[in-house]
Amino acid sequence: MSDMTLNKTNHPLSGECFVPGDKSISHRAVFFGALAKGRTEIKNFLTGDDCLTTIAAFESMGVRITQSGEQVIIDSEGYQSFKEPLQPIDLGNSGTTARLILGVLSGLPFHTTLYGDDSLTQRPMDRVAIPLREMGAKIDGREKGKFLPLAIRGQQLSAITFTPEVKSAQVKSGVLLGGLLAEGTTTVIESTKTRDHTENMFKAFGADVKVDGLAVSIEGRQHLTGTKIQVPRDISSAAFFIVAALLVPGSCVTLKDVGLNPTRTGILDAVKLMGAKLDIKETKHIGGEVIGDVTVSYQELTGAVIEGDIIPRMIDEIPILALLATKANGQTIIKDAEELRFKETDRIESVVATLRQFGCQLKPTPDGMIIEGDQTLTGAKVDSFGDHRIGMMIAIASLIATGETTLTDKEAINVSYPTFFEHLEALIHI
Ligand code: S3P
Repeated sequence: MSDMTLNKTNHPLSGECFVPGDKSISHRAVFFGALAKGRTEIKNFLTGDDCLTTIAAFESMGVRITQSGEQVIIDSEGYQSFKEPLQPIDLGNSGTTARLILGVLSGLPFHTTLYGDDSLTQRPMDRVAIPLREMGAKIDGREKGKFLPLAIRGQQLSAITFTPEVKSAQVKSGVLLGGLLAEGTTTVIESTKTRDHTENMFKAFGADVKVDGLAVSIEGRQHLTGTKIQVPRDISSAAFFIVAALLVPGSCVTLKDVGLNPTRTGILDAVKLMGAKLDIKETKHIGGEVIGDVTVSYQELTGAVIEGDIIPRMIDEIPILALLATKANGQTIIKDAEELRFKETDRIESVVATLRQFGCQLKPTPDGMIIEGDQTLTGAKVDSFGDHRIGMMIAIASLIATGETTLTDKEAINVSYPTFFEHLEALIHI
């Protein structure tokens, strides 16, 4: 764990930035490439720690994966050829790997054990384990199988129709992947649409998947066929520079080739609600995903109420939006975001604690936070709590905070954005 000293910037941010590949899509490309028969070629893969964890998990089941930088080649004979791993699988910090792999392992004829780091060990797995058990899975672990480490004895699963209580793409995806290995047709009916990359990926790999409004159905025991995947750049990573440009006077930044899937663009709608004018150009459609460029300049914004269906569309961007709100005119209220409590940290508490260290006034609520606007941030020694998105929020806050900021445990950022500081420096031309 190392410290990093950051200073208020005297330069606006300017120029173009190509943020790395989307984390959710990179994970899924490896999952589907491993499950499919034949060769899958992934371009613009995110080489963050979490996605490398997914590669290692499938390698431990005998899948041949070659990763060289942002290119990944998977040669698989399909899920029927997976081998029982000899060792427990280490999931590190990756909630997406954990929730999705539970679905896969539940339906394979062998025994596996999953474990992770301190943060992942405290995150609930029963949200996926409960429906999978209903399908016949045998999953056991701490506190009646709620937390890692988990032991899974794979079974022939049977299809279910499932209505999740939580708004979670990881839960939807874990159940649909279990459904791929089950007898019959598995349907997940959501109350609010969450990111739909799994549905898009099923289609790209040639599967028979039906999407009817909020219901997604997958026919079990079908074969997937290897394909080529071009991963869009991650809007969740781009969000840090979108907010930085809105915060630092004189800035103008273009985020290139960013994923603009409507289930992910809540952050763009939220800043628009606060009065921002963005220039958004859709440029390509690849594999069911929309890609485009977002140009944003420094602007004065107004506080807003952010609530309802927009929240799942920007759940990972709420920490950086909270920072933006500290500089808006008037109060910002974030509601309906209790899911933040189940992320890499309890992000209601960690965002509030971090921004208070910069001297900001804000308070937590059970399902969000209330942030006062028009505040002055003062540099301080601030910890990322081992959470990549809190670490990046601190780095962006340091650009506008008076004096010096020390970020401790900067390595946490490698989970989703290993080149974050290089890209930030390039934008401020230091
Ligand atoms: C993800 C879904 C979201 C998100 C996470 C990635 C995914 O989690 O916060 O970073 O790839 O499906 P939940 O499904 O828990 O909301």
